[in-house]
Amino acid sequence: MRRVLLAPLMAALPAAAMAADAEHVVEARKGYFSLVALEFGPLAAMAKGEMPYDAAAAKAHASDLVTLTKYDPSDLYAPGTSADDVKGTAAKAAIWQDAEGFQAKGMAFFEAVAALEPAAGAGQKELAAAVGKVGGTCKSCHDDFRVKR
Ligand code: HEC
Repeated sequence: MRRVLLAPLMAALPAAAMAADAEHVVEARKGYFSLVALEFGPLAAMAKGEMPYDAAAAKAHASDLVTLTKYDPSDLYAPGTSADDVKGTAAKAAIWQDAEGFQAKGMAFFEAVAALEPAAGAGQKELAAAVGKVGGTCKSCHDDFRVKR
């Protein structure tokens, strides 16, 4: 009896472990984008004039965004962690199906953030123009690769 019960239990173990791993990956991925949004939010607010322009603060936020683009995000896109595979994520399966297209959106984001850093401290107008470009890369990737809520 015991042996009969054990076999399916053992078989179920790796799958359960993988599901837990997938949840951690999703959590980390969302955490990464939360950090991106946390740093980008005040810059967008300054660009729109919803927050007074502050060159030093703008430079600090832009510099943090640059730091985030230096993180190699490969681990955040482990296979089996799309919205088709697990709950609690908005990452479309298209990310894995069209890895090149996704990478291109990521590169556009990295480049816009690199241009944002020198613009951030140069004045409100310069900041606003650069923020607009970065915001466009966020939207462009979300349009194709994030599940709409
Ligand atoms: C290369 C693609 C890409 C770029 C560029 C991108 N995002 Fe995202 N973003 C995603 C994906 C995919 C998710 C869904 C992650 C998940 O749910 O697992 C996401 C999720 C988010 C979330 C929700 C996080 C959560 O807790 O669920 C926020 C907020 C966000 N992005 C903000 C931004 C902002 C702001 C920018 C630009 C400054 C940006 N993203 C740029 C792909 C991108």
